Formats: sequence, structure tokens, C-alpha cells
Amino acid sequence: MPRTPVTVHVCRECGHEDAKWHGQCPGCGAWNVLEEAPTARRGPTVAGQPRGRVGSPQPLRSVSVPDVGRLRTGIGELDRVLGGGLVPGSLVLLGGSPGIGKSTLTSMALGNLEAAGHRTLYVSAEESPSQVRLRAERLAPAALDVPVLAETELEAVLATVERERPDVCVVDSVQTLHSPGGGTAGSVAQVREAAGEIARVAKGAGIAVILVGHVTKEGSLAGPRVLEHVVDCVLQFEGERERTYRTLRALKNRFGAVDDVGVFEMRQGGLVEVLDASARFVAEATGAPGSVVLAAMEGTRPLLVEVQALVSESELSPPRRVVSGVDRSRLALVLAVLARHAGVAVGAADVFLNVVGGVQVDEPGADLAVALAVASAVRGVPLAGGPGAGQLTCFGEVGLTGELRSVAHPDRRLAEAGKFGLRTVIAPAGTEGASEAPTLAAAVRQALAPEGAVKQAL
Ligand code: TYD
Ligand code: MG
Repeated sequence: MPRTPVTVHVCRECGHEDAKWHGQCPGCGAWNVLEEAPTARRGPTVAGQPRGRVGSPQPLRSVSVPDVGRLRTGIGELDRVLGGGLVPGSLVLLGGSPGIGKSTLTSMALGNLEAAGHRTLYVSAEESPSQVRLRAERLAPAALDVPVLAETELEAVLATVERERPDVCVVDSVQTLHSPGGGTAGSVAQVREAAGEIARVAKGAGIAVILVGHVTKEGSLAGPRVLEHVVDCVLQFEGERERTYRTLRALKNRFGAVDDVGVFEMRQGGLVEVLDASARFVAEATGAPGSVVLAAMEGTRPLLVEVQALVSESELSPPRRVVSGVDRSRLALVLAVLARHAGVAVGAADVFLNVVGGVQVDEPGADLAVALAVASAVRGVPLAGGPGAGQLTCFGEVGLTGELRSVAHPDRRLAEAGKFGLRTVIAPAGTEGASEAPTLAAAVRQALAPEGAVKQAL
């Protein structure tokens, strides 16, 4: 039986595979995103013929685990998110929107590794060597010691990597590499082939590779989404280009936890780790009407951030709901519950909501902060406690029937607030050490009470 060459249609946005071409992806609903690509699957086996070599399974207990030394990049937040550093022979995909700082982060990491005596290679398929140098000049001096190869041909990159045998190699970016095999650079087929070939070389020679990938407007990794199963670790670099703070989180990690987050700030000399992010956000919090401190969790790490709301008369119908840092639909939900169960209605007013510093808070614990910021903005009164160390802090999920629901890690959130002298923390019932509020209405009453009233209620 001949093995027919099978092609599939792969979605560039979500990686969905389909035998047939569709105008709209059945996986994610995006239009004109399916591309034809060769399938990695084998054809059917012929009955009666041997399938190939027979393996010998062994008990897990007797499997030896080699002690792989991690390669520390010297960037604490990056090493932490990686689970302790780069693993030799592993593939890391670093995704992020253009201008977020992927090239800066990888240049800095290679510079540090080079300074620590490791062999490195920076493959630039996007910028010329002089452009790479200009960036490196802004960074620590060691960044200039990194060998650079400006090349877009996959075959040439592979041949160079095989000859140079660096310990760590960065390919910036995987979408701009192309192989003569066919297809345009950045197409699903090309990106898959490039990553597959690089993985083969990297695993064979024990080279740790960081593949840089661009993310589309929708937030998915264009092309590289189909790479998630090829690589060992997927890191996402998030934030807004015009804001200073950026967060690095692991979406997949074969060698560590996935809920760790690193916070960075883009400065003149490159990315700087922000180890005391809470301290900064608390110090900058205004305590004015519409401002509240949220004790959020970024993965396993507590982070205090300021949530601000502005409610103003609208000339538009429907009114505006401008949100940054939290999910838009969470705001809609919170506004509905506020109106229905807590007597705070925004009516046809515009609502602007912002998590200060460009931080993205993706957790239900932010609901209460959104609600209290809006309530304070609507009433035009600052929350109890006012600005400074006494300012009100909160966390909790808002339920549809007006109740406050507990969220993960209340103890860590409270401890973080305590660390910065924020003693007034409104949290769902059952949170020991906090000012407990069983419902959103109760929380609003406490938060908008005259100064000192919350403490007395404790
Ligand atoms: P870059 O790393 O090139 O982003 P990406 O590779 O993700 O597209 O740089 C992002 C931005 O950071 C760029 O607009 C310039 C700025 N930048 C600084 O502010 N300070 C610096 O030291 C460097 C190197 C870049
Ligand atoms: Mg770049």
C-alpha cells in the first residue's frame, strides 16, 4: 500500500488541524487563517507486516535521571520563571508583541552567559549585525562579546550552529527564518519545519535554544502556537509598549512551575528586574476617589497594585467601558452586581478602569477592587483610610448574587499587605485577619465609611 503524502490545514492562530480547508477556523473562529501544511503523522501500517523495533518498557523507579546543570542567565526573574535557569538541550519559546523587549532580554541573557564562560550565539533573522550591536551597546558591556550571525536561511543557521556548538543559542525570530523547502517565511509549514530542525540539532548537541516568536494582535503566538508541543517551555512576555512594566510568565514548562511571574521595567540600559513591585505600586497609589489597592496574585507571588476608576457623564450611547489590566467582561459583571445588589449604579455614565503600571491581572480576586474603585468614583469620595500607609486594600471574587467569594492564597495576600503597613484589608468572609465582608454591599459600606470606621468594625 503506498504511503500517500498527507497534508492538513493548520490554523495559524490556534493550531487547529483539519483535513479540509475552511474559510473560518472551526477551532477558534478566526477567518482566513487555515494554511496547508504537511502532516507529521505516519500513514497506516500494512496488516501482517512488522511495525518496527520493539521497545522494552522499564519501571519508572529504575529510570536514571541525569543531573543536568542549569545554565543561569544571570537575570534572576528570567531564571526563576524558567525554573532555575536554562536546561541544556532544551527549547524555549519566548513570545511577545513587537517592541516589548524580547531581543533586549535575550541579548542581556547571552551577555551574562558569555561573561560566565559559556559559549553563546545570537542568530538574528530580523536585524542586521549593526542593529544588534547598537542595542547591545545600551546594555551591560558583556552583551558586546556575544557572537552574532545575521541569517534568514534555516539550512545556513543549522550548519553554523552545528559547527559552532554553542552552549546557548538565541534565534530571533523563528517566524523570519525560511527554508528552501517551500512556503513563505512565517507560514505554519515553515515555522514548524524550522523549529523541528532546530530542536533536532539542539537535542543532539545539548544546546539550549531560545526561539523568539511574535505574537499577533489577538494575543496568540502567530505560527508558534503550533510549536507549543515541539518546545519544552513557552514564555510569554506581556505588557504595553508605552508602559514601563512588563511581566514574564511561563505558559508551559517541562522543567518547572508554570505559575511564576517575573516583573521587569524597561530603562535606558535595558530591562531591569523589579523585585519590589508592590512597594512601588503602593507608594504611587493616590488614595483619591476611585483608587484602591488590590492584593493580587501573580502566579504564586502576591503583588499589590493600584486599581483606578473614573466614572463620568457620557455623551455616547451606549456609554464607554474602557478597561486596561482586567478582563472587560469582569467589569460588566461587577457593574451589574454593584447596581443590583449594592445600590451603586453607574447608569449611562462612561466608566474607565485601569490597573496602574500596565500590569495585567487575570484572576477573580480582582473583582472586589474593581467594584470598590467604581463605587468610590461614583460617590466621589475616597475610600476609608485615605492615601498613604493606611490606604484600603482588598481582594475577593464577586458572585452574581452579590456575595463575596474567597479566592486562592488569602494568607499570602494579607502578608504582602501587612509587609507594606496596609492594615485595612477588606476580604470575603472567613478570611482571618482581614476586615471580613460577606457581601459586596457590606464591603462597599465598609469601604466608603468615614475614616476609622473600618478599623472600629474589626
Ligand atoms: P526590543 O528588545 O527590540 O523589542 P522586541 O525584540 O520585543 O521587538 O526593544 C523594545 C524597546 O525597548 C525598543 O523600542 C527600544 C526600547 N529599549 C529601551 O528603552 N532601553 C534599552 O536599553 C533597549 C535596549 C531598548
Ligand atoms: Mg526583536
